[in-house]
Amino acid sequence: MKQNLILIFIILFATVAFLINRSRLHTTQSNLNHIDHKKEKHLHQNSKEKIEDIHSVKYLESYIEDVINNGSSQKLGFAYGDMQAGFADKDAAKKIAAYVVTLSGKQPTHPEWVKEGHTFYISNCGGCHGEDGKGIHGTFPDLTRETLLGIERR
Ligand code: HEC
Repeated sequence: MKQNLILIFIILFATVAFLINRSRLHTTQSNLNHIDHKKEKHLHQNSKEKIEDIHSVKYLESYIEDVINNGSSQKLGFAYGDMQAGFADKDAAKKIAAYVVTLSGKQPTHPEWVKEGHTFYISNCGGCHGEDGKGIHGTFPDLTRETLLGIERR
């Protein structure tokens, strides 16, 4: 009789312990799910922002400026090879970038630089990329493309 009572106590204890443990596990899991969900949402927002960014005119202008100031050795597949840095000085580079974005029909951040940028472009860039910016197929890249090759690659 006494032994049975002890047995019942043990079973009761084990059941209660099991139930408490299970409910604890459940709350931790749902917390984890919640965190994962939040993370996912955050990541999603971030990558969307990046994609919008890379297609913005600001990004394009800074890409062009960077190529003028630092050159381009991206191996874009043109027979001429790399483009050296410094075909124009830094101040001219900004203005040229404003002009170059208009070649693909975009509205530059500083429209007031376009006219001067055009003049600089003709004397500093036109020799290779062509006065119309269309380049020479296979030798110099076309700057009138909707998305420039270096950006497309990114
Ligand atoms: C001597 C010839 C030459 C001159 C001058 C020159 N470029 Fe280039 N440019 C190239 C070549 C070749 C490439 C491709 C380089 C590579 O593969 O990374 C290039 C690449 C570029 C790119 C990247 C194109 C893309 O599709 O991503 C831009 C933008 C550019 N040039 C703008 C200019 C501007 C603006 C000027 C004038 C300041 C200029 N270039 C002057 C030869 C030239």
